Amino acid sequence: MSARTRIGIGVIGFGWMGQAHSRGCRRAPSYFPDRTYDPDLVLVADTLADRRRDAVESFGFRGATADWHELVADPAVDVVFVTSPNMLHVEMVEAAAANGKHVFCEKPVGGTPAQTVAAEQAARLAGVISGVGYNYRWAPLVQHAKQMIDDGAIGTITNYYGRFFSMYGSDPLGLLSWRFLVDGAGHGVSTDILSHSVDLAHYLVGDAAGAITRVVGTGETFIKQRPLPSGSGTHYDRGRPDDPTGEVTNEDYIGMMCTFAGGARGTFEACRSMVGPESQNSFEVYGTKGSISWNFERMNELQVYVAGEHKHTGFTTVFGGDRFPHHGSFVPGSANGIGFEDLVCIEDHEYLESVAARRQHVPGFAEALRYVSVQAAVLESWASGRWEDVVTLGEASVAPTSTLTQTSMTTTGTTTASTRGTA
Ligand SMILES: NC(=O)c1ccc[n+]([C@@H]2O[C@H](COP(=O)([O-])OP(=O)(O)OC[C@H]3O[C@@H](n4cnc5c(N)ncnc54)[C@H](O)[C@@H]3O)[C@@H](O)[C@H]2O)c1
Repeated sequence: MSARTRIGIGVIGFGWMGQAHSRGCRRAPSYFPDRTYDPDLVLVADTLADRRRDAVESFGFRGATADWHELVADPAVDVVFVTSPNMLHVEMVEAAAANGKHVFCEKPVGGTPAQTVAAEQAARLAGVISGVGYNYRWAPLVQHAKQMIDDGAIGTITNYYGRFFSMYGSDPLGLLSWRFLVDGAGHGVSTDILSHSVDLAHYLVGDAAGAITRVVGTGETFIKQRPLPSGSGTHYDRGRPDDPTGEVTNEDYIGMMCTFAGGARGTFEACRSMVGPESQNSFEVYGTKGSISWNFERMNELQVYVAGEHKHTGFTTVFGGDRFPHHGSFVPGSANGIGFEDLVCIEDHEYLESVAARRQHVPGFAEALRYVSVQAAVLESWASGRWEDVVTLGEASVAPTSTLTQTSMTTTGTTTASTRGTA
């Protein structure tokens, strides 16, 4: 067995994604025996006492605190996962980076483009390794689609359709959680789920078709009032018809058309209040020789058509299986499916590999900046009613390995005992 780097994990915000990443880090060793790191679950920060208790009793963290400032200062923590509501991201990222911690932040890093710019700058200037939760990139069949596009299998890209239609806001009785409020989430679906669609486009066709250069778009809030939560309700929880309501202050819908630098055209839509689609994060890529489409609702299937292949016409369904990247780490054979949290586990594994190797990770905050540059342009277009150029925000650059901060990480499992309480 080769020496592995111990990486102390701290998680701020122990809700859906904080727990998903904690399971991802905890599970990764059993799926990836050739890894170069050993995760050490050190500390969770959450304002809710029952989540702190769960972090220790059910997930195996050594401690939990109500004050995230303690977590970013803890010498046993090497990597901070920021999985809190969006508008809290930046101060947490900045404090973690200032303490020399590597930072994985959930997408799209902050609630507004300006906040993403600030977070990227903080991480870059501190020389820490950033990562972003664009987990759908890691789907084995998405990786296969990228490989096909790069290999020229579908020819020159002519047009791209990306959409994320989620059910989470489709019920008007869905609680007015932080996601529906500018103060908690920043913008609505343009910050939340359009970010996944545009990131997938950058990943899949960015090399073949270039960056998104111009956009025209519009948005809307279809459900303007929602029941107020009485406790810590999430966007999946429901109120009652006679509950007091409050105003939704960010958008339910964003649609945009765009041009890519290489001449391809794109269409994107994101919506959280449609009735019918449930988690339709999908793309269709069209080229001069064929097309590929994928939909997360059927994440273990890829639709492929390559003109002239065996004289067939129409799409072929390609089932996921162990011949595609990472799939075989979870389950052998073909058409034995994997799921959402497996993508998170792959993403955590890849990020921890980057940290152990002290190399900047992709996707990192530079990729988040590429997304918010598009987001800023579509928000501007929504206001102006005109086509707008995409202006590159911030000064994204990949830090050379030599400038990356050396943290207290050690090899082969030496750990620092935590004295922190559990809740
Ligand atoms: N990549 C994905 O597929 C995906 C999916 C869902 C959410 N997300 C992102 O993950 C992040 C979290 O979303 P979620 O759905 O897990 O939210 P959530 O509401 O389930 O969890 C948020 C947690 O943060 C805690 N919190 C709030 N204020 C805090 C503070 N000051 N200090 C410490 N903890 C605090 C809350 O108590 C809660 O436990 C968001 O940025 C969201 O955009 C990404």
